[in-house]
Amino acid sequence: MEKKVKHKEEAFLQHPVLFIAVLVLGFVLMDPFEIGPVGGIEFRPVKHDIAPYKEVMGGWPRDNESQLGNGKLEFVDEVFGPESLEFDSFGRGPYTGLADGRVVRWMGEGIGWETFAIVTSNWSEKVCARGVDSTTSKQWKHEKWCGRPLGLRFNKDSGDLYIADAYYGLLVVGPRGGLATPLATHVDGKPILFANDLDIHKNGSIFFTDTSRKYNRVRLLSRYHFYILLEGETTGRILRYDPPTKTTHAIPSHSFCPSKSIFDTSVRFGLMKYWLEGPRAGTKELVAHLPGFPDNVRMNENGQFWVAIDCCRTQAQEILVHNPWMRSLYFRLPIKMKILARIMGMKMFTMISLFDENGRIVKVLEDRKGVVMKLVSEVREVEGKLWIGTVAHNHIATLSYP
Ligand SMILES: *[C@@H]1O[C@H](CO)[C@@H](O)[C@H](O)[C@H]1NC(C)=O
Ligand SMILES: *[C@@H]1O[C@H](CO)[C@@H](O)[C@H](O)[C@H]1NC(C)=O
Ligand SMILES: *[C@@H]1O[C@H](CO)[C@@H](O)[C@H](O)[C@H]1NC(C)=O
Repeated sequence: MEKKVKHKEEAFLQHPVLFIAVLVLGFVLMDPFEIGPVGGIEFRPVKHDIAPYKEVMGGWPRDNESQLGNGKLEFVDEVFGPESLEFDSFGRGPYTGLADGRVVRWMGEGIGWETFAIVTSNWSEKVCARGVDSTTSKQWKHEKWCGRPLGLRFNKDSGDLYIADAYYGLLVVGPRGGLATPLATHVDGKPILFANDLDIHKNGSIFFTDTSRKYNRVRLLSRYHFYILLEGETTGRILRYDPPTKTTHAIPSHSFCPSKSIFDTSVRFGLMKYWLEGPRAGTKELVAHLPGFPDNVRMNENGQFWVAIDCCRTQAQEILVHNPWMRSLYFRLPIKMKILARIMGMKMFTMISLFDENGRIVKVLEDRKGVVMKLVSEVREVEGKLWIGTVAHNHIATLSYP
């Protein structure tokens, strides 16, 4: 009798523990309140082989003086998430695309910033102009409507400004500005989800990147472009728009994720070069391993190119990159991304790097404490000065160089 009771008790005790354990695990994996970074999305991490952390970081020159920390923050709370910076052939600028959907230009102290172009007739001050809040989640649900201009390039001959907009694809606007004209919104009948950066070929064709065929930049209350990095998905591609025929083509290539220009890829922490012409046309080449996530690539007058890098890789992160199943579990934990990143030892700071055309490092500048510059998106070198854009903050950073 006594024995029987004890059995019952044990079963009773074991059962709830198991039950709770299963519940907790289920809760963690399902993340019903979508607290974790990938809550509520179909998350399919992809395995990648990346160069070993030690190899890359060991051989990477460091800027021990943290020289970027001497940079100056300009136009604080006057520009909101200035992603790409461009100057026209008269030397006016910078021109930059903002989180509120506008392309603005700096007209000097007297006039200040003026609206130069918008990418959609949907744009209105009432819905879109959220000022400093444009770079916060308050803008997310309006981005699709208002537009989010990213990469900018002038055709120096015609004076036309080409715009890669995250929602409205590739557009062009004349030298006087105004409402931009869409050039490419679809490829093979399917919408371009995430135009990101562009470059103009000397024959007039426009090469631009589409970061993902799966995600666009933002969904309500969350940020899709984050998942592209977490998943390591590689549906991104390079597209080419040919003005004479007004047609857009995908550049044939094996799977890789061009986050920005023809020169780079975020997912594998590498800088890629894609050969368009010559004997190696149609092939791509990894020219450098990078210590973190690269963004736009911009050439200076000497044919060298600056890469903005959000730093840095960590050993924990490397394990996750190699093991998609771990990423699946880890990023489903009902914990905010900020904290997950901290556990992985990631501490956001900025490194910008100048490469020669063969991918050899010429210069590395860092802001190790991330005081002055964080989440940089582009570095433009113009007449002894670096202009540094950011997608997430309300300023432009500058630094004398060399
Ligand atoms: C920076 O510091 C590290 C370690 O303290 C050292 O190995 C390296 O040579 C230094 N780099 C430069 C450019 O001085
Ligand atoms: C206005 O925004 C909606 C939602 O993003 C979009 O579907 C529509 O095409 C836009 N209209 C124009 C004229 O750009
Ligand atoms: C420009 O050059 C690229 C690369 O060789 C080529 O693919 C494209 O068709 C050319 N465009 C025109 C308009 O000739």
